[in-house]
Amino acid sequence: MLDLTAVRSNFPAIADSDYIYGDNAGGSQCLQSVVSRISDYLLHTNVQLGADYSVSVTSTTRVAQGAEAARELFNAASVDEVAYGHSSTMLVENLARALEFDIQPGDEFIVTGEHEANGGPWKKLAARKGLTIKYWHARASPDSENPYAVALHISDLLPLITPNTRIVAFTACSNILGSIVPVKEVVAAIRAKAKEISARKIETCVDCVAYAPHRRIDVQDWDVDYCVFSLYKVYGPHNSVLYARSASLQSLGSIAHHFLKKLDEAFKSIAEHEQSLVKPLLTYLKSKYPRGVRIVGQEDADLSRVPTISFVVVGEQAIASKDVVKFFDQKGNIGIRYGHFYAFTLIDHLQPKLDVDDAVVRISLVHYNTVKEVETIIAILEEVLA
Ligand SMILES: Cc1ncc(COP(=O)(O)O)c(C=O)c1O
Repeated sequence: MLDLTAVRSNFPAIADSDYIYGDNAGGSQCLQSVVSRISDYLLHTNVQLGADYSVSVTSTTRVAQGAEAARELFNAASVDEVAYGHSSTMLVENLARALEFDIQPGDEFIVTGEHEANGGPWKKLAARKGLTIKYWHARASPDSENPYAVALHISDLLPLITPNTRIVAFTACSNILGSIVPVKEVVAAIRAKAKEISARKIETCVDCVAYAPHRRIDVQDWDVDYCVFSLYKVYGPHNSVLYARSASLQSLGSIAHHFLKKLDEAFKSIAEHEQSLVKPLLTYLKSKYPRGVRIVGQEDADLSRVPTISFVVVGEQAIASKDVVKFFDQKGNIGIRYGHFYAFTLIDHLQPKLDVDDAVVRISLVHYNTVKEVETIIAILEEVLA
């Protein structure tokens, strides 16, 4: 069980405040310990790295600890497989440019309609090289009453793969739908298909930005080639990290195993607590189906979904997403948001069509949010929908 008082006390922005942070998928609050480490580094050890004098030795060690921490979070085999950058968008763009030399005429890229960070660089590379882009779109199940209850299905991906497929770029968790994609299963299916059709070289690039605050990443277990996430969405500063698989994998020592076990436990508690946030909110929104509320994404609360919850209000008493959020803004003390959140291909692909700019209302919670806050959100929604 998460000790929420302890969790919240680590975040000065929320410890003594009743402001409800509901835009966490856009950027989370920063931990006091992170700010303290950064200021201590800058105030006491901000010298050139790599020299033999004592302060430089300390500084070098501290910088190396950052890369090691990222390696642990990815569960990468080596720090050599980790690169830092300003944003995930920039890192994937750099990756696509770095791979340009290893692209052949006729190569194909498969992307999802999710956040442009993991779609745009491949689309641009395809445009530069005159290559083909294919979309693995999210869709609703045929038996679903709600046309916006969309998700990615592996059965839609497989027919897109050909011997020329070079990259499959997809999300581990959607920043709109909140649903978790079974990365290991997807990668295994891609590799099996690649083998069957003797594909030249298929690599996978997984966007974990909306996944990292909620579940543990494990690039080795998933068998992915590239993976990216942003530290400013996981309680840190505005930096991002990229994992790129190295050919030479090393085995982990016992200290690392101990740490990884702790990470497993931490993410288990986070997932459990987050379910207590997802359940009441989804139950409430589903109960408003007759009022025109449509959840965009998976409607059921279970562990295959995180508390990033998007919805629209359609029908005779439709309310623009902008106006729902305006109502929340007027209440004060709460921050949620509307829009396409740079997943405009996903939004644009929904049927019946939505206005891409107005798109969806998104309430994105993380482990420091409370059940009481969800009750407040539901009470405001009750007023909006009256
Ligand atoms: C799923 C997803 N991918 C990528 C990004 C882009 O991350 P960055 O701002 O670090 O470029 C975001 C940002 O909102 C996101 O939600």
